[in-house]
Amino acid sequence: MSKKQEYRDDYPEKTLYLPGPTEVRDDVIKAMCEPMFGHRMDRMTDLYTTIVEDTKEFLGTDNDVIILTASGTEFWESTTLNLVEDNMLVPTSGAFSERQANVAERLGKDVDRIEYEWGKAAKPDDIRDALETGDYDAVGAVMNETSTGVRNPIEEIGDVVAEYPDTYFIVDAISCLGGDFIDIEEHGIDAIFTSTQKAFAMPPGLAVCAVSDAAYERELESESASWYGGFQRCLDYYDRKGQTHSTPAIPIMLAYRKQMKHMLDEGHGARDERHQEMAEYTREWAREHFGVFPEEGYESQTVTCVENTRNINVAETVEAVSEEYDMVFSSGYGDIGEETFRIGHMGEHTVESIKELTDAIEDVADL
Ligand SMILES: Cc1ncc(COP(=O)(O)O)c(C=O)c1O
Repeated sequence: MSKKQEYRDDYPEKTLYLPGPTEVRDDVIKAMCEPMFGHRMDRMTDLYTTIVEDTKEFLGTDNDVIILTASGTEFWESTTLNLVEDNMLVPTSGAFSERQANVAERLGKDVDRIEYEWGKAAKPDDIRDALETGDYDAVGAVMNETSTGVRNPIEEIGDVVAEYPDTYFIVDAISCLGGDFIDIEEHGIDAIFTSTQKAFAMPPGLAVCAVSDAAYERELESESASWYGGFQRCLDYYDRKGQTHSTPAIPIMLAYRKQMKHMLDEGHGARDERHQEMAEYTREWAREHFGVFPEEGYESQTVTCVENTRNINVAETVEAVSEEYDMVFSSGYGDIGEETFRIGHMGEHTVESIKELTDAIEDVADL
């Protein structure tokens, strides 16, 4: 049992290079400090319709968008409940894709995994082979495997799934959407979701999902659709009232509004390019001093998983960089905790700000 460790008022400010939460602009933080208003007031309709429509514009999609008060995990559950009657195919290659499969199993679905070694990417041909022999309600895949820094070829996988019109395609894009552009409709993605604390660079607390018309229609027939994350309930409420079905985290929506304006000003093309530059810089640095963990050609645009080829003490380095430089990055995930470490280059970071971290690591690890 954890004991109470009194929260204090004097923590030093740290710059976040985590794979989320990440840095949030000051004006976005300040946007939360408004007197409260009611979730059925006209002002709420203005706020919610603004953030939903701005999100569609930013993502470049005509699909419907749901913004729910929840972390992204909510959409693992609700997309499964809404779109999977019996069985689901999930390529697993790290902690988060394994968890997506596990969530579906806990909801009573039959899950077939295509298992890859950690660090490898899911391959479209394997998905095709499985779809040729099996009959799946949905394929669920993680676009950016945060535990290994792998960017799965979701576009190609989507094109394969699209050959099977009765199979829905569910994409967890939690650690990359907003920093790695994907054409949602072009690749037949029925549900794609993220959390606000990642590449959207907002405070945590909201989850965002873009839903295709086919997925909405499918959910109407579903016996076991989610109540809280039911596409129909969320989207019909939006259509009728421009609001959410239950009381949302209004302060975070105020921050969302502010940040989404910044994202629209930058545009998804420029934002994607900036993330590409950060990823290239970080990979080059990693190759010079260590190694890059993911399979070549499938490296993430928002999180670099560095292979600890020098055998530095990762936990001590993370701690020392935090103490000496007030910068926080991540050790490796789970079993690869000491074999790797991870740098989140997402949201509002730039090559210059990432360089400040890599300089600090060089200093602390004596590279
Ligand atoms: C790929 C992926 N999926 C799901 C999650 C869970 O997201 P949340 O903590 O917002 O529920 C994370 C969190 O890091 C993630 O990286």
